[in-house]
Amino acid sequence: MSLLIVRNLSIAAGERLLVEEVDLDLAEGEVLGLVGESGSGKSITCRALMRLLPHDQLHIAGGSVTLKGRDLARLDEAEMRKVRGVEIGMIFQNPSSHLDPVMRIGDQIAESVRYHEGASTKEARGRAVELLRQVGIPDPVRRVSAYPHEFSGGMRQRAMIAVALACRPKLLIADEPTTALDVTVQAQVLRLLLDLRDRLGLAILLVTHNLGVVAQTCDSLTVMYAGRIMERGPKRDLLRAPAHPYTEALLKCQPGSAKPAAQLPAIPGQPPLAGAFPPGCRFHPRCPRVADICRRERPALSPAQGPRVAACHFTSALRAAS
Ligand SMILES: Nc1ncnc2c1ncn2[C@@H]1O[C@H](COP(=O)(O)OP(=O)(O)OP(=O)(O)O)[C@@H](O)[C@H]1O
Ligand SMILES: [Mg+2]
Repeated sequence: MSLLIVRNLSIAAGERLLVEEVDLDLAEGEVLGLVGESGSGKSITCRALMRLLPHDQLHIAGGSVTLKGRDLARLDEAEMRKVRGVEIGMIFQNPSSHLDPVMRIGDQIAESVRYHEGASTKEARGRAVELLRQVGIPDPVRRVSAYPHEFSGGMRQRAMIAVALACRPKLLIADEPTTALDVTVQAQVLRLLLDLRDRLGLAILLVTHNLGVVAQTCDSLTVMYAGRIMERGPKRDLLRAPAHPYTEALLKCQPGSAKPAAQLPAIPGQPPLAGAFPPGCRFHPRCPRVADICRRERPALSPAQGPRVAACHFTSALRAAS
């Protein structure tokens, strides 16, 4: 059974829709990658799942989010705070803005355990040490008393993961957890996430720009562009034979595809500004396979191959060509 079910989620800024009709399914122990260019709506989708949108600016305009059979929209704020603390852990895009600089790392972990589980100070500190050990912080007994600025970037990122896992959530939402890190540390953090998945049965929604990261870690993949899902399905299928020209274009731009990084092609053109989306298929102004129908009619997400769905009028033609 799915742990997390998102149906038809739409997010708006005033009247402008920024994200439309997003569906996500995540099973226990599954790693789902959410990819797409900057501005496609990945982070606000994550925040909407946690009901953490800045409500003076953005709101959920429709759809549902169900976690373990519970509709999160029906929870009051106190219940939702418990869901955030206990059932869903979140790693934000920028770790330094989400660790409190004047609070010891260990206290930041322990606070959550005390608050949500009523643990004693001693128990909570013990859990903090154990969590720092689990995420691979050397000498955790000493480091538990350190402040964030005493940690390197990679260690801060690990500390964020420890904070997110403090109350043993079943779901971790990780928004670009490795982007700010150098390649070696990035690989370590990814291994850590997979290890936690294996040991704790953790489900992970992993937001990333990097299809190399996806290839190493994800089971399934959802590709967003301009606030909509373009393609979704098992990772292996999408990477091997994309059914949507946007997925195909993203793959061509990734390091590790044919050319060295310096000569990588970018997808020609720019994504549209939020809320000012072109009619028909949103990708049509940049699509190498554009035809008249693409300018007029929005393609529905429809079965492409096996469990895969794609929103392209020419999905079957793409398949035939590949
Ligand atoms: N508070 C806000 N008020 C109005 N618009 C917003 C707000 N936050 C984000 N947006 C807009 O919503 C769109 C989606 O933003 P989001 O941060 O989700 O993109 P993203 O896919 O996470 O991009 P990146 O890969 O750069 O992190 C963007 O066009 C952004 O400008
Ligand atoms: Mg983002």
